[in-house]
Amino acid sequence: MAVYDSSSGLLGHALHSQVAMHARFGGVVPELASRDHVRKLLPLLRELDFRADTIDGVAYTAGPGLIGSLLVGASIGRALAWAWNVAAVEVHHMEGHLLAPMLEEESPEFPFVALLVSGGHTQLVRVGGVGDYSLLGESLDDAAGEAFDKTAKLLGLGYPGGPALARLAEQGDPDKFRFPRPMTNRPGLDFSFSGLKTFALNTLQRHRDEPGIHADIARAFQDAVIDTLIIKSRRALRQTGLRHLVVAGGVSANSVLRDRLKVVVDEVDGQVWYPRPAFCTDNGAMIAYAGCQRLLAGERQPLAIGVRARWPLAGLTIRR
Ligand code: KG4
Ligand code: ZN
Repeated sequence: MAVYDSSSGLLGHALHSQVAMHARFGGVVPELASRDHVRKLLPLLRELDFRADTIDGVAYTAGPGLIGSLLVGASIGRALAWAWNVAAVEVHHMEGHLLAPMLEEESPEFPFVALLVSGGHTQLVRVGGVGDYSLLGESLDDAAGEAFDKTAKLLGLGYPGGPALARLAEQGDPDKFRFPRPMTNRPGLDFSFSGLKTFALNTLQRHRDEPGIHADIARAFQDAVIDTLIIKSRRALRQTGLRHLVVAGGVSANSVLRDRLKVVVDEVDGQVWYPRPAFCTDNGAMIAYAGCQRLLAGERQPLAIGVRARWPLAGLTIRR
């Protein structure tokens, strides 16, 4: 939950993480997620310090994502807008992620390339402005974060696996194994990460009893994913002729990825932009920001509440 003002910026935000709740089950349990939304959304709203009569609109995530959680958020958002007699605005979850760097004092100018790397999506997008998105490439199977989580699980690490696998990889021998860099030796900007998980499993089974093998596999896996993201990001900048790269979504917290992307943008005399760490992963501030831009453009939702489990980003527009 967050309150954003078009002239003063972010006035407040509150977040409740469900990571601890899902960790007991080794991954997200959709039914628990939506029930927890029911319990937590209004208490979170009360943590924010604002007067209802200063609000001009209520934005909520309408997709893509788990339908139960989306329905809870959309119902509460739409109901608040009705109660306060203000506009309701739908926001696309990935639009929230790719605009999140705009919440910072120093932010990129349009156009730029966005690398979106979360648990559900891996996408390269040309961003011409708010509501102007062309998909350059995306994962054909597992998202980068999902591949991190699944490989972490088979290495015996807890949920969410990404950060744990990254920590383990630091102790791994970089020369012990070499995993493939999927889809890099042919043209195009699509990704495929699901084979790496199988590669990790086969390697683990072959070398099961060797000491330090988990760390060596973590290292080889992370190097392969990050190398692939680097190769495709470089290709996307060359192809579009753009110099600025926005990186968002949970995997953008990975420090090896960050160090290597710096080199990529230096090559084109450009710059890489991130949201602050708290806004790299899911948060309300990015939705409030995107919603505010759409509100200013005159968007208004009717009274009906609609959410979408699947919703292509590139189909979005904005009133001009
Ligand atoms: O964007 P996000 O918070 O949620 C989704 O919308 O999916 O992304 C979560 C994903 C998880 O898969 C998590 O394992 C991954 O981001 N992640 C990382 C790191 N921190 C989070 N992956 C690799 N290295 C990290 N340091
Ligand atoms: Zn997300």
